[in-house]
Amino acid sequence: MIVLGIETSCDETAAAIVSCTSLGRGIRSNIVRRQVTEHEPYGGVVPEIAARAHLDHLDKVINRALAKANATLADVDGLAAATGPGLIGGLVVGTMMAKGLAWGIGKPFVAVNHLEGHALTVRLTDDVNFPYLLLLVSGGHCQVLVCAGVGCYTRLGTTLDDAAGEAFDKTAKLIGLGYPGGPAIERIAREGDASRFDLPRPLKGKPGCDFSFSGLKTAVRHITAERGWLDPIDQADLAASVELAICDTLVDRTENAIAWFRHHHPEGKTVVAAGGVAANIRLRRRLATLAEKTGLRFIAPPPMLCTDNGAMIAWAGLERLRIGLVDGFDEPLRPRWPLDAAASPRPGAGIKA
Ligand code: KG4
Ligand code: ZN
Repeated sequence: MIVLGIETSCDETAAAIVSCTSLGRGIRSNIVRRQVTEHEPYGGVVPEIAARAHLDHLDKVINRALAKANATLADVDGLAAATGPGLIGGLVVGTMMAKGLAWGIGKPFVAVNHLEGHALTVRLTDDVNFPYLLLLVSGGHCQVLVCAGVGCYTRLGTTLDDAAGEAFDKTAKLIGLGYPGGPAIERIAREGDASRFDLPRPLKGKPGCDFSFSGLKTAVRHITAERGWLDPIDQADLAASVELAICDTLVDRTENAIAWFRHHHPEGKTVVAAGGVAANIRLRRRLATLAEKTGLRFIAPPPMLCTDNGAMIAWAGLERLRIGLVDGFDEPLRPRWPLDAAASPRPGAGIKA
């Protein structure tokens, strides 16, 4: 089975081809065009600019993905697109393209929840069976979930305010670093002293698996306002202190989630991290140590498959397609679309694309 996946929910224009045959599964191509120069002057993603950039580049990105995979549209068994959650303008571009191509070549269309793309990527890169515990940490989401099957997720905790990636991005801006903030903080934190600034770890030590990061952002704002100007050593020390505080919070909440998971799913063997923030090396090391301590194995996709890409959408599409989950051309877009249906039901009326 071969699936072409399209991702346009935020600021990456991405297309990929993945396959699963009797010989195994793999990524045949994975083309990602990041819109860094478009958004950098504004310090964050501008939705209208993002949508126009997707429109300008998506056809070329798809053609490159096909060429790299040495495939034509006739070879694919289905077309998948992220239909939510995300920025509506970008979702329209990617979904209309996938539906149009699917209709044109008479192949099925699969609507993929972007979060499910992150959640299932480890099943493409590693041998991971359900159920597993997932820390999903990206620019827009910060959740801990039990993944019990394709389309079958239970949310144990979520953020009360900012997502972990948002905390990286907003504090990076205050420290005077570029966008996206996570990689910028990670880069200079290597040279910094993480014990120099004592930053808050909201909810740490409290029961439950929810997260909060707004106090951290406020604390960093106070430090930068007080000093007025940060020299490179201050910047590195503050970046290292922020990275440590975010990791401490994530690890503390994941520890509670692991206790719950081991009690309710004794057959589960794996803790997974996914989403852009899971590319962070310090976080990966900390989670690996935590998992080892609790007798579980820790797996995160390679960093380039943690941040948004087309392979994650193609793979989630393939996982759905092979169990017969196909969508109609009237499938709506869902700018807000939680993974856990019980936490907030999948809305019946989305926006028509
Ligand atoms: O999953 P993703 O690419 O897009 C969303 O679905 O939101 O995640 C992007 C987020 C950004 O907030 C970015 O700063 C963060 O992931 N990020 C990182 C790293 N790489 C990306 N945060 C910390 N360390 C990194 N190495
Ligand atoms: Zn994402």
